[in-house]
Amino acid sequence: MEKLQQLYEGKAKKVFATDDPELLIVDYKDDATAFNGLKKGTIVGKGVINNQMSNRLMQRIEKAGIPTHYVRELSQRETLVKRVSIVPLEVIIRNIAAGSFSKRYGVEEGVVFDSPTIEFSYKNDALGDPLCNAYHAMALHLATEAEIETIKRYAFRINEILREFWAGCGVTLVDFKLEFGRLSDGTVVLADEISPDTCRLWDSKTHEKLDKDRFRRDLGGVEDAYAEIMHRLVAHDEL
Ligand code: TMP
Ligand code: ASP
Repeated sequence: MEKLQQLYEGKAKKVFATDDPELLIVDYKDDATAFNGLKKGTIVGKGVINNQMSNRLMQRIEKAGIPTHYVRELSQRETLVKRVSIVPLEVIIRNIAAGSFSKRYGVEEGVVFDSPTIEFSYKNDALGDPLCNAYHAMALHLATEAEIETIKRYAFRINEILREFWAGCGVTLVDFKLEFGRLSDGTVVLADEISPDTCRLWDSKTHEKLDKDRFRRDLGGVEDAYAEIMHRLVAHDEL
């Protein structure tokens, strides 16, 4: 598989063309941003961890019957994925109150919900990724009603899969963000990444944060937290 010209550079990844028009290569960086790019930094080794973690989790999700963009890991930082056109929605599932939910609704972080919640944000940096509901997404032609139904079904199922997996690692899955894309035939598949950048992961016993909130909130021990969460995943994956 030949790595051709760079098509795109995002905050955490670069995307390259290949000699197959249906396949792309993503290359994970150590760059970290928060608050819509306002805060910038480097998390040494993050690209390797996010690449490998996302690939392991996507394979698990694919096995459970949900289609993903994952094809093959090429190197520590590079993965071959199916080309998709991204549905411009950030799909957020929450099991426990934290972050913007706690702030918006005045709920203490750590309050466990009776059942998981879902919300959408319109992926638009210039507007600051505003919260939107399914009707807004349809009015903006971001996705069809059928696509939104599929996305909701997949997202809740992915939550069940990931929650159970992380529980086995002694980790509580607090919340996470997913992105979906359309293949050239219109099939909706899970895309982007699932990593400590895009999930809140707390130690089940101590509630220690093992995710990007350590960077966002200047808690220190950022690299150690990424290494620890990857170690837990690998140890459990190999059981
Ligand atoms: P929030 O509480 O800040 O809305 O974040 C909810 C989840 O989404 C959390 O696990 C972090 C993740 N997230 C992203 O992956 N990208 C983003 O740009 C934001 C704001 C959150
Ligand atoms: N990556 C996002 C940004 O830079 C925010 C975040 O993950 O908190 O805007």
